[in-house]
This record gives sequence, structure tokens and C-alpha cells, in this order.
Amino acid sequence: MGVSKSDAIVIVGGGAFGLSTALHLSRKGYTNISVFEKDDHIPPRFSAANDLNKIVRAEYEDPFYTDLTIKAIAAWKTPLFAPHFHQTGFLHCVSGAAPKKAAETLQRFRASAERNPQMKLHVVPLEGVEDIRQAAWQLTGQLPGWYGYFNRFDGYAHSGNALAAVYRAAQAEGVRFFLGEQGAVDEIVYVSALTGRKCAGIRTKNGRFHPSALTVVAAGAGVGRLVPQLGTQVVAKSWSVAHVHLTDEETSALRGIPVTYARDLGFFFEPDPKTNLLKLCPMGGGYINTDPKTGVSHAPDTLQESAFLPEDDEKQLRKLLAQTLPTLADRPLVKKSLCWFADTNDSDFIVDYLPNMSSSIIVLSGDSGHGFKMFPIVGSFVTDLLEAPDDKQSVVRWRWKESDPDAGKGDWGGDVSWRLGESKELSAIMPPKASKL
Ligand SMILES: Cc1cc2nc3c(=O)[nH]c(=O)nc-3n(C[C@H](O)[C@H](O)[C@H](O)COP(=O)(O)OP(=O)(O)OC[C@H]3O[C@@H](n4cnc5c(N)ncnc54)[C@H](O)[C@@H]3O)c2cc1C
Ligand SMILES: *[C@@H]1O[C@H](CO)[C@@H](O)[C@H](O)[C@H]1NC(C)=O
Ligand SMILES: *[C@@H]1O[C@H](CO)[C@@H](O)[C@H](O)[C@H]1NC(C)=O
Ligand SMILES: *[C@@H]1O[C@H](CO)[C@@H](O)[C@H](O)[C@H]1NC(C)=O
Repeated sequence: MGVSKSDAIVIVGGGAFGLSTALHLSRKGYTNISVFEKDDHIPPRFSAANDLNKIVRAEYEDPFYTDLTIKAIAAWKTPLFAPHFHQTGFLHCVSGAAPKKAAETLQRFRASAERNPQMKLHVVPLEGVEDIRQAAWQLTGQLPGWYGYFNRFDGYAHSGNALAAVYRAAQAEGVRFFLGEQGAVDEIVYVSALTGRKCAGIRTKNGRFHPSALTVVAAGAGVGRLVPQLGTQVVAKSWSVAHVHLTDEETSALRGIPVTYARDLGFFFEPDPKTNLLKLCPMGGGYINTDPKTGVSHAPDTLQESAFLPEDDEKQLRKLLAQTLPTLADRPLVKKSLCWFADTNDSDFIVDYLPNMSSSIIVLSGDSGHGFKMFPIVGSFVTDLLEAPDDKQSVVRWRWKESDPDAGKGDWGGDVSWRLGESKELSAIMPPKASKL
């Protein structure tokens, strides 16, 4: 079903996927676009991309996403995005104590980088401490048993600033934004249609109905509440984040360091010169918050419930610092939080119409914690779908999948090779004070 250029289009979510969609639709000539975001400003505090930085690395075990990231990196170098992209390189290693799974995953990433004709020129093997210090002299720690590779093709993006820039650009192009009270979407509204039902628009928490010919749900970890039909195709998952507050001198001394990642310990970035914050992330199997009735995990309702760093993650991050930047190993960790994203069991995105809704509603979800690097191009996945013959998603892996009602409980997503460790329930790791909220 063709949506015409002047039809009303509603986008739910003013995070990475929603903003990119607004930009791409607007550039394609759609003139009546409204974005609904529950926070009262952009970057929204609930967005997984409300952050200092995200890794932009093109090597994937799966060449499909490698090719896509190479396209995204080309777009990161265009004027709107370039101020937020920093090609510092990616120092990708394991420590000497890494489990076999981590070492094997590292080798597959390395093989991917070395296989790709555009990337391989930028890849340097790192056989040990000496090689690593050639790539990043500031890493003065002992780096015990570390090895891997350095890829100068990669880097990071300042995600919060990039969201703000696209927000301003979309506004300038005439996209309307409903934020806070007016932007919090309570429900998707359906009406009956010739065949089954179709989406007629959305209702916000303040009771207002906004009609639309097309609704794009880009609600990140909030998608399960709005589109329960997804079932266990998507669950909310989180990883923790923490920061060290540096002095001006320390920030300056670490300028230009690559994204430094030991698969078994976590990663950190070049410090942010505005705030002097050095961001750290321990990765791992992540945390879920499963509703026992449905088996579907949802992000907690309040930010306070996520404002902490699990004890084991703190230990791991201190180990990472001790091995790399030992003078920081005992510093206080600040701005600690769990950051929620929308996870699928195979790490593939979902970019498709809801079935049997007359092509009136698209879900853009399943970022699986690796979606920000696509920020400059992710909206084009939606405009491509709008142009698809028969409204059929031609990228089979991004199609809506009927979910298995029994799939909810098991060892969910543990098979994804690039994740180390099992997912834990939020209730099991919350500090006692926070759990009363
Ligand atoms: C710790 C961590 C590290 C990560 N590292 C990387 C990385 O290194 N590289 C990378 O590429 N990616 C990374 N990611 C993933 C990246 O952040 C996400 O892929 C990206 O933010 C997904 O965008 P999104 O728009 O789908 O969701 P979000 O950016 O989370 O945005 C969703 C928005 O929808 C809004 N919303 C939800 N429900 C409603 C509602 N009912 N009404 C109105 N608005 C609503 C929310 O407020 C939010 O602003 C990481 C994620 C985490 C958590
Ligand atoms: C956009 O669509 C809404 C909902 O149909 C409508 O009320 C509004 O007048 C439209 N705006 C423009 C500029 O066409
Ligand atoms: C959609 O309709 C088709 C054909 O009528 C049916 O087989 C399928 O189960 C429906 N899917 C959903 C999710 O309702
Ligand atoms: C992932 O879930 C889909 C259903 O949504 C299922 O068909 C598939 O087998 C699952 N894959 C894995 C690896 O568990």
C-alpha cells in the first residue's frame, strides 16, 4: 500500500532509529512527519544512544553487516555526521585469561577485517605488549597476555551529540516533534479494515489521538510494551556503563587513544574533552527483566531502577583499568547505569510491517546492542521497505518472525557468539535500596 508524500506519518521514539527515520523520510519528500518521544528533550535519557560514545567498527562475523557498516562509515563522513565521528582506530584484543569462546570470537572478527578489501589495509596484528604500545603508547599497564589486532578503519561516534544534530536537522526540514507529556505514546490505535485490522494512529499519555497513514515504531527497549504482538522476537536487555572523571591533563594525555577492547574484560574510549569523562563498558551476557507471565523482558519504568553498576561489572572494569591504565584503577566510578536495548535471539534487526495490518505499521527494532553505528543510514531501511514491491521486506533476515510461544523461558540469546556469559535477571542483581523503587 503506497503512503503518499503528504500523508501523516507518525514515528514513535526519538532515539537513534526514530531520528534517522525522520531524516530519511523527510529527504525522500514526505512532508507530514511527526516524532513522538516520551522524554522532554533530545537526546532522550531513555535512549540507549544517550551517551558519550558508541563503537563504530565495521568487522562483523557476518559479511552482511560488514558491508552495511562500510556504507554507514561513508555516511558518517558526510557533513551532518562528520563532527561526531572519530576514526581513532579499534584495538581489539583478549587478555591472557580469556576463555576460549572470547579468543575464538576475536579470531573471527580479525579474519573478517583481514578479508575485506577496504579494511585489510588498515589492520595491524598485535602479538603482545610491545605491538600494543606501538598502537597506543598511553596503555602503560602490563596488558598481561593481551593479543589481537588494531584496525584503523574503525573508531567511535559521539552518540548523544549526533542525536542532537539530527534532531536539529530534522526540525529544520519541517519534521514535528512531540516531547514529554505530549510525546509519550500510551497505545497504538487499530481499527477494522477490509482485511483484518489496520493501524489508525497513536494515543499519547495525555489522551490525545494522532491519526496516521503510516506509523513507525522505533521505541528501542520500549517496543515490547507498544507492540506485544512481537512476543519473544524482541526482549529488553541491558549492559552497564560507568565513567572515570579525569583531570584536564589526564584527558589531554589520552587524546587520540583507540577504542580499547578486551573481549573478556570490556572496553573504553578516548575521554570526552567537554566533560573529562572516560567511559567504560564491561559488556557480557547482559541483564533482562522478564515478565514471568509472558516470558518477555521489558525495560524498567524508571531511570532510577537502572542507576547502578552491578558488583561483578565493577570488579571487571577495575581489572580492565589495572591492566591498561593502572593509575585510574582505584578511582571512583561515576555516572553508573544500565543501558537498555532491544535484543533479538540472532542479533538481526527487525524492519518490517506488522503482519495483516494493511501495511499501516512498521516495526524498526531489534538493534541488539549494535545498532548505533548505523545511525546515518538506518532510516533508509524504512524508506527502502516503503518502496518494496508487494510491501515485502526483501532482506529476509529483517522480516517479522512468528514467535514460538514456548521460546520465552530458555537460555535466551546465549548462543550469540559475540556475547560472553549468560543473561541475568535484574531482580537478582539490583542493590536492595533500588529494588524498593
Ligand atoms: C551499553 C550499550 C553499549 C552499546 N554500544 C554500542 C556500540 O558500541 N556500537 C553500536 O553500534 N551500538 C551500541 N549500542 C546500541 C545502540 O545504542 C542502539 O542500537 C541504538 O541506540 C538503538 O536505537 P533505537 O532508536 O532503536 O533505541 P533508543 O536509542 O533506545 O531509542 C528509543 C527511544 O524510544 C523512546 N520511547 C520508548 N517508548 C516510548 C513510548 N511509549 N512513547 C514515546 N517514546 C518512547 C525512548 O524514550 C527512546 O528515546 C549499545 C547499547 C548499549 C545499551
Ligand atoms: C498532517 O496530518 C495531520 C493528521 O492527519 C493533519 O491534522 C495535519 O493537518 C497535517 N499537516 C499538514 C501540514 O498537512
Ligand atoms: C496473517 O494472515 C495470514 C493469512 O490469513 C495467516 O496465515 C497468519 O497467521 C496471519 N498472521 C498473524 C500474525 O495474524
Ligand atoms: C530465534 O527465534 C525464532 C522465533 O522468533 C526461532 O524460529 C529461531 O529458531 C530462534 N533461533 C535461535 C538461534 O534460537
